[in-house]
Amino acid sequence: MTTVAALSLFPNLVFRPSYKFCSKKVGVRDGFKVLAVFGEGASELERKSSSNVWGAIFDVEDPGPRRTQLVSGKLLDVNQALEVARLDLQYCDWRARQDLLTIMLLHDKAVEVLNPLAREFKSIGTMKKELAELQEELAHAHQQVHLSEARVATALDKLAYMEALVNEKLLPEQKDKGTSGPTSEPEYEIHSPTTSSRNASQLQTKSQRRSLNVSGPVKPYNPCLKNFWYPVAFSSDLKDDTMIPIDCFEEPWVIFRGKDGQPGCVQNTCAHRACPLHLGSVNEGRIQCPYHGWEYSTDGKCEKMPSTRMLNVKIKALPCFEREGMIWVWPGTDPPKATIPSLLPPPGFRIHAEIVMELPVEHGLLLDNLLDLAHAPFTHTSTFAKGWPVPSLVKFLTPASGLEGYWDPYPIDMEFRPPCMVLSTVGISKPGKLEGTSTKQCTTHLHQLHVCLPSSRQKTRLLYRMSLDFAPWLKHVPLMHLLWRYFAEQVLNEDLRLVLGQQDRMINGANVWNWPVSYDKLGIRYRLWRDAVERGADRIPFTKQIDSGL
Ligand code: FES
Ligand SMILES: [Fe+2]
Repeated sequence: MTTVAALSLFPNLVFRPSYKFCSKKVGVRDGFKVLAVFGEGASELERKSSSNVWGAIFDVEDPGPRRTQLVSGKLLDVNQALEVARLDLQYCDWRARQDLLTIMLLHDKAVEVLNPLAREFKSIGTMKKELAELQEELAHAHQQVHLSEARVATALDKLAYMEALVNEKLLPEQKDKGTSGPTSEPEYEIHSPTTSSRNASQLQTKSQRRSLNVSGPVKPYNPCLKNFWYPVAFSSDLKDDTMIPIDCFEEPWVIFRGKDGQPGCVQNTCAHRACPLHLGSVNEGRIQCPYHGWEYSTDGKCEKMPSTRMLNVKIKALPCFEREGMIWVWPGTDPPKATIPSLLPPPGFRIHAEIVMELPVEHGLLLDNLLDLAHAPFTHTSTFAKGWPVPSLVKFLTPASGLEGYWDPYPIDMEFRPPCMVLSTVGISKPGKLEGTSTKQCTTHLHQLHVCLPSSRQKTRLLYRMSLDFAPWLKHVPLMHLLWRYFAEQVLNEDLRLVLGQQDRMINGANVWNWPVSYDKLGIRYRLWRDAVERGADRIPFTKQIDSGL
């Protein structure tokens, strides 16, 4: 039901239906009273208006310079009535300003007169009062500063969100590119920690478009992922007569040194009857099968076949090189690249530990974990992050390259180096205290290399190298390497139980990237990089080469 109102400037006269106004001179000087009558339509209004059931709506004390236009009892339409009210308001406002100006002038005069006296004879009580007022002002200023900080935090938050959106922009391009890989179309979504409804609705819109889905049983490795140089072992572990069996992309291989001392990598399955070769031995640069004694050189050629006529037999061998203390192989079918990445720590560091572990998780899940620092105060509560407070905001900032940056508020630089490496430099200002400074401000540092070699379907061969730019004498402490290994295993075990749980759920259909937020940036970028490689995209995002020639 529609209720209509008629307004009137007193007195009530005959008027047409709909809204009417009337003015009436009231007791105040030059004032008007605006009256109204309410009804259910024109006829109702006319009836009520004729029966004088007007109600006062507001007073116009002084309509100002245009008051001559108003005549008592004149009927006005809605716009005219509102114009009256508006003029009145403007006039009152102007008058208030005049009054305020007058007060200020008077105040200034009073201060001018009294101040010299006040300075000399100000009582302690007055001073206390003024001090209290100053303190109040200071508290107010502090409050403003906190508000500003909050605004800055929000701005940073938005910045992180914008960065995430920029990352996302790379995806549509990938979607348009080839789909040679067996994986499904990438779907991706980043959730900002910002809680504003605007962003929430934006994200909701986005989520309808894309979301990153990493779920389901671990698939066979995509062949495109093999076309990289992979570090598989530390040089120090490969003596002239030792063999290192590895699984690489779900195939068993064995590494040993040839006659010339150069490493070789051959399939770990004898051509004769499939015996594991690493159970044998290395003689004069050849690996000997423990079953019937067949011997293979580093290029896979069988050079000895005891007790039978020699046949032309060759087993598979991978291109294999030794660089900067590591053994590298090329498992792919493409021709090997002429350069391999350099993984050495920066100058001034000394390597203190090289540790290898076989872990029962898919290498991507382990990389996701290593590329995330926000979990530290929750997960590593018994090791390096013991006692760390939980920051109000954790961010990964990438000023130089898409896969390299630093963590805020931690003094930690981090980089994902394709295809499966994580490099990090940790600034140590005080033992156990990591917060609050950048790596450059710290005088001592720890450098870490994690290589996550895809070995079997749900297994990763982890190569961990730790270097320090201080305390070189630690290298000479007996059994120190055991202590480093103990520390590394403690830290890793804190992660492993969680990642194993993720893997179980992922296999059963849960999405391990269901709800990424801004501090997940580096992990998401790794997934974007990997997705592009596996699909054979023409342009691989975030690529950067820091290579050393072969
Ligand atoms: S199985 Fe290797 S020599 Fe027979
Ligand atoms: Fe961790």
